[in-house]
Amino acid sequence: MGRRTDGLRLWHYPDWRDGLTDALRLSAAMTSKFAVAGLPSGGGKAVVALPEGRELDTDRRRDVLRDVADVIASLSGAYATGPDVGTSPADMAVIGKTTPHVFCKPADLGGSGDSSPHTAQGALAALRAVSRRLCGTSSLGGRSFAVIGLGRVGAGLARLLAAEGAILTVTDIDPDKQKISDELGAVWRSPDETLAADVDIVVPAALGSMLTSRTAADLRCRAVVGPANNQLATPDVADLLHQRDIIWVPDYVASAGGVINAISTELHRVSADEARARVRAIEDTVDDLLDTAQRCGQTPAQAASELARRRLNGTSGPTGTNHGAVAVPGSVAR
Ligand SMILES: NC(=O)c1ccc[n+]([C@@H]2O[C@H](COP(=O)([O-])OP(=O)(O)OC[C@H]3O[C@@H](n4cnc5c(N)ncnc54)[C@H](O)[C@@H]3O)[C@@H](O)[C@H]2O)c1
Repeated sequence: MGRRTDGLRLWHYPDWRDGLTDALRLSAAMTSKFAVAGLPSGGGKAVVALPEGRELDTDRRRDVLRDVADVIASLSGAYATGPDVGTSPADMAVIGKTTPHVFCKPADLGGSGDSSPHTAQGALAALRAVSRRLCGTSSLGGRSFAVIGLGRVGAGLARLLAAEGAILTVTDIDPDKQKISDELGAVWRSPDETLAADVDIVVPAALGSMLTSRTAADLRCRAVVGPANNQLATPDVADLLHQRDIIWVPDYVASAGGVINAISTELHRVSADEARARVRAIEDTVDDLLDTAQRCGQTPAQAASELARRRLNGTSGPTGTNHGAVAVPGSVAR
């Protein structure tokens, strides 16, 4: 069995089965993410499903992380985790006390630390490729973007875009994030208004499934490209976007910077410069996908999924066609 890798999500769900569904969807996307990025791993995901309204105090959180660590240890290296929504490098340090199969521990504990700056850089690389397609230049100055979600990745990406002179509309469900908007001189709007903003590119950087058949009909942008996982409510939304001449770069391509950096530095032991170059190469990957899609009369989603399928079929060893999900209802969900 090949190794499966990707993060631990600690999030609220109406029912623990919803957490399991999320873990399965995310782990399938991770398999495609690793394949397109050329990384030797299958996709995996661990989800701790918290009941709605339930918060964890420090002791309870540590207990939950130890439960997760025990499950991962029992898999003997078939699955390795890392941070995702709701977890951090500090949480990985707790898990790392029980099992070595964990990425992105803090640097002083030998890990590669927070993945979100690398995810933001990877998304920036994808935006450059799309900007070249739309405007003939990869320069992002003067282009307009609507960034949805100013969390670890979204705020970092918005800062990178602002530093390049991009024109920003931003949003978050957390009103405190308006401070970041003010700092960047961005326009702050509601999530619905931001999704339907008249901009060059909408950048999803929040949680999944924002693109439905209804919201796709309301879009006024020329492209949707961002780091959020699982942006499409259903796969056919990619076709709707294509019919409207809106470029959609699959989320698993645009969001790969974090895992590329973590695996390159922690497994392949390459230098930080080499890891950065691998993250920047997302720009070439997106260029190639858009070329292939145009040449073959496909959507970028079809071109990416064919590339993933070819890589999975043509590769032996640690990369496998299967994905794995670990749901840990544990003591918390009871
Ligand atoms: N952190 C990484 O390295 C990484 C890697 C790959 C993919 N991603 C994906 O990128 C996305 C963001 O990850 P993150 O680490 O920044 O998470 P985060 O929890 O730090 O940030 C998410 C932000 O989105 C906001 N948000 C949630 N729902 C929203 C909505 N409906 N409208 C507007 N804002 C909303 C939250 O308030 C929060 O500020 C997630 O989909 C995650 O799976 C992250």
